[in-house]
Amino acid sequence: MKGTQLTGKYGLFSKYNVQKSDGSPVDPEAEYFVLRLDDGCSDKRHLQASREAVLVYADQIENHLPKLAQDLKEKYHGTVKLKATENFIHNKYGYCYYDVCEDRAFIYNLYVYPEYRLRGHAKRLLKYAILEIRIIGHEGEIEIEAEPRERSIDRECLIRFYQDIGLKVLARRENAGA
Ligand SMILES: CC(C)(COP(=O)(O)OP(=O)(O)OC[C@H]1O[C@@H](n2cnc3c(N)ncnc32)[C@H](O)[C@@H]1OP(=O)(O)O)[C@@H](O)C(=O)NCCC(=O)NCCS
Repeated sequence: MKGTQLTGKYGLFSKYNVQKSDGSPVDPEAEYFVLRLDDGCSDKRHLQASREAVLVYADQIENHLPKLAQDLKEKYHGTVKLKATENFIHNKYGYCYYDVCEDRAFIYNLYVYPEYRLRGHAKRLLKYAILEIRIIGHEGEIEIEAEPRERSIDRECLIRFYQDIGLKVLARRENAGA
């Protein structure tokens, strides 16, 4: 980054070399700031801040670059809480809630609108809920009930899905799913 006082590993420094994907040259005077946005980012607070920043950017370019704004919102809306107190993960595809109280954490009311099912949206919503719960600082198990509604999925498949994603499935309540 030219013209910038670089301050070492924990300040502003040159961590990445930027190249254009079409092979055209990068202006040597250009300044870029790279944000990692995928779930693999190990610093969850950093990830949350990066996603919020991208959504603010999408709002700002809505009239100027509408397609890019729409793509960013579809990809990252619902991946961050917009209010600190909210325990509701939601986007245009569906929603779920979560609660952390004392040493227990729960996810509940997972729902994907019928027209968007079987495209990975439930998995994404749950991953975002898990991320929020980890950001709060809960390190233990995260619990969920497996009581499918609307005949949308077989209970055994739902249990497998929840376990594969790392959730603890609660024992069945009496009369549940009836
Ligand atoms: C259950 C529900 C949330 C799944 O949403 P979805 O977006 O279709 O799920 P995903 O596409 O993310 O799929 C998640 C996994 O479940 C599997 N799955 C989803 N629906 C399935 C079905 N009908 N039959 C078999 N497997 C199914 C997917 O193959 C996927 O498995 P994988 O991780 O091995 O690939 C959705 O059907 C729903 O909202 N149902 C009504 C509300 C409900 O029952 N909620 C659960 C309350 S406990």
